[in-house]
Amino acid sequence: MLTALEQQPAAVRKALPPERLDFLSREILDLKRKYNAVILAHNYQVPEIQDIADYVGDSLGLSQQAAATSAEVIVFCGVHFMAETAKILNPRKRVLLPDLDAGCSLEESCPAESLRRLQATNPNFYTIAYINCSAEVKALSDCIVTSGNAVKIVQHAPKDRDLLFVPDEHLGGWVMEQTGRPMTLWKGNCYVHIEWTHQAIVRIRDRFPGAPLVAHPECPKAVRLLADVVCSTEKMVTWCQASGAKDIIIATEAGMLHRLKKECPGTNFIPAPTDRCACNECRFMKMNTLEKLYDCLLNQLPQIELSPEILERARHPIDRMLEISALPL
Ligand code: 13P
Ligand code: SF4
Repeated sequence: MLTALEQQPAAVRKALPPERLDFLSREILDLKRKYNAVILAHNYQVPEIQDIADYVGDSLGLSQQAAATSAEVIVFCGVHFMAETAKILNPRKRVLLPDLDAGCSLEESCPAESLRRLQATNPNFYTIAYINCSAEVKALSDCIVTSGNAVKIVQHAPKDRDLLFVPDEHLGGWVMEQTGRPMTLWKGNCYVHIEWTHQAIVRIRDRFPGAPLVAHPECPKAVRLLADVVCSTEKMVTWCQASGAKDIIIATEAGMLHRLKKECPGTNFIPAPTDRCACNECRFMKMNTLEKLYDCLLNQLPQIELSPEILERARHPIDRMLEISALPL
């Protein structure tokens, strides 16, 4: 069941007049220098933000960048849990998010109190949390994963523990298929990715026979089964660059198409249609705009704030993720 907020279409965006775009871009670059700031942007951000960012990537790449940056201020153009992760990795730095309301349906599906109650039913649970969750949920977890490293991390999980995977049941189901490791799955999902269906993909494939399907692991199993590759948004870029296909169907949030078109200029990318609507935009990701990015750099607000206790406890499972990610295959 979609919440009222999720049911609203992503805000209709008017293209910025060229003079305003030039002004904002110049000012943002000046403010970035003034505050020694770095702009990190997720692959689903609007094109104007992707084009001005210092780094554009998936949740894993963004966490690695946040862990390594020497900048004093991190401006995170993504959703709230991503900016929180950057703050946990940089407790003494200022972390800005252009719109604090940029949430995530997966994060909403898993309140820390409900997770705590489930964990109390089995002391042998080893909790693996998809990074799309709150800092409080991270603080209750043993290890964090992203779509880019979940398989590897589950392969490294202690063999004598019962795995509990939160909060995405589809990503969790895909990881179980890949690793053969049973897990108890939390029943959360991404309200954007569950819109893709088997029928809608079969229909678009009839129109583009031979075009490979690239799908995000947040898609339901009926869609993943049709995919030529299931991977994180960043791996989509490398897969498409190597594929040599003329047409490629993409089942993930629409912002990805801007990045893919830039990285693979000769390829025709076809956004996978859904059955009910053209709702392949994440309204949370689209809450950040160039205007809000400018305002937040100018005012150095809004900032991410977390209690010292949560900062401390949420750090361990993120560090564990980064360590396992860096291990050779
Ligand atoms: P990636 O880490 O693959 O970019 O996914 C993040 C996300 O929120 C997908 O909906
Ligand atoms: Fe969350 Fe889905 Fe938006 Fe990704 S696309 S941020 S999982 S609501």
